[in-house]
Amino acid sequence: MIGKLKNLFAGNSERLNFSVLGTDMHSHLIPGIDDGAKNLDHSLALLETLKGMGYQKVVTTPHINWEHYPNTAEKILTGLSEVQEAAKARALDIEIKAAAEYFLDEHFEQLLEQKALLPIHQNWVLVEFSFFGAHPRAEEWLFKMQTFGYRPILAHPERYLYYREDWSKYSRLLDLGCTFQLNLLSICGYYGNEVRKNAEWLLKKGVIQLLGTDLHHERHVESLQNGLANSNLLQDLLKKDSWLNTELV
Ligand SMILES: [Fe+2]
Repeated sequence: MIGKLKNLFAGNSERLNFSVLGTDMHSHLIPGIDDGAKNLDHSLALLETLKGMGYQKVVTTPHINWEHYPNTAEKILTGLSEVQEAAKARALDIEIKAAAEYFLDEHFEQLLEQKALLPIHQNWVLVEFSFFGAHPRAEEWLFKMQTFGYRPILAHPERYLYYREDWSKYSRLLDLGCTFQLNLLSICGYYGNEVRKNAEWLLKKGVIQLLGTDLHHERHVESLQNGLANSNLLQDLLKKDSWLNTELV
């Protein structure tokens, strides 16, 4: 696995440079607990790839979604320790931390009320909506997060096509205190043309502050590689030095 991923980047080192971001703050690299890395070797291979892409730090974010991935902070942090130890044993020189990607539902509300959320950094917490429609109480929960001292980062707003190019919807989320995190894979076209167009529209609006890989597996690595080779927009984004990623140190 590691050899295969390394080869994907052979000969492209000049173009494959995400180092301006410093930290990747959205990925699924704790083995076996969601739809990301399947086992420890897979996790290490993906981390080695991120290192090769120029990242110095990874805050990996397993799903906490009570219907599909009923993970707990304890389970995530236990997995993190295993990954950190294995990375150290292999002399993999990248800082690894963990938080979570919280699906907004009633279980999330319970964790919020217990003040038991795992933040990306300080009080910043990564949250996501369903791809079929936001929960009717989503706005209430976003507001409540801030009353409990958290700052919501909305994962991949460009992928919620039910809001596609609807400024009233997105500005409402910004008014509710959300910071928007775009998936680099959206620019690469991994999720299709409609998501790519919506991502470009949000970027033109100037409301994206964080970029994440949302890396799950090697197909995502291949798409990032293709994007870097073929997308001028992605290259331009990686020349900016104003991304909030750089504050996640
Ligand atoms: Fe994710």
